[in-house]
Amino acid sequence: MGRMKLSNINLLETLNSPEYLPILATFSERKARKKEILFLPNHYENNVIIVKKGKIRVYLAFDDKEFTLSILEPGDVFSTHTRAYTQCLEDCEFLVSSAENFRKIIKQYPSFTFNIIQVLGDLLHNSITIINGLVFKDVTERLVEFLVNAAEEKGIITEQEIKLNLGLNIEQIAMLVGASRQTVSVLLSDFSKAGIIHRVDQRTLIITNMELLKSLGS
Ligand code: HEM
Repeated sequence: MGRMKLSNINLLETLNSPEYLPILATFSERKARKKEILFLPNHYENNVIIVKKGKIRVYLAFDDKEFTLSILEPGDVFSTHTRAYTQCLEDCEFLVSSAENFRKIIKQYPSFTFNIIQVLGDLLHNSITIINGLVFKDVTERLVEFLVNAAEEKGIITEQEIKLNLGLNIEQIAMLVGASRQTVSVLLSDFSKAGIIHRVDQRTLIITNMELLKSLGS
């Protein structure tokens, strides 16, 4: 999911500069371990967080289904007053402050709003993809769409093939396409038997027949 860049301001570097010291003092710092859930939907305190280290997944969960809305990175701002869960994908550190305090801060330092628009834009992009997929596509089509998009974004083209280092395991792919791990696993092995893909390892695959893959997606 390519994120539009509105500014190259690195929020963390900015925050660490002397003029921002008084602001930093109004945030408290927290650490959390990989896989830990940070906040449940509609957390009782209305807080704003800024990621300092690691990646935090923002997702919706119902029964056994999960939908990833965004993956926050260092410098990203998010809040606890949403219907989404937040979870650390790796050991992480983040800053926490009340939304009330944050409201005063953005008045004084509007550059924060660039990042917020970026994060919300990413959330909106993924929300539209999810709605589109749920309403108009079945799981196969969603997985195909995911692979085709990923290939276009970061596939390495070599002669007839496209090498794709997804950096995600099956479980993480399943979360992105809103299906169970088992379903994605069965589909990938079907694609493999049909000569469409070749799986190199857990996180890497080679698309050997892009045309056929695309034809399954429409
Ligand atoms: C200055 C601090 C903030 C204030 C005063 C504020 C205020 C609000 C209010 C009044 C709502 C509607 C709640 C409702 O429907 O009951 C809302 C929703 C939302 N806010 Fe904020 N917000 C703040 C900061 C942020 C930040 C920094 C983010 C993320 C970058 C954010 C993300 C969201 C999202 C995603 C929703 C929709 C939640 C849902 O419907 O599940 N907010 N906010």
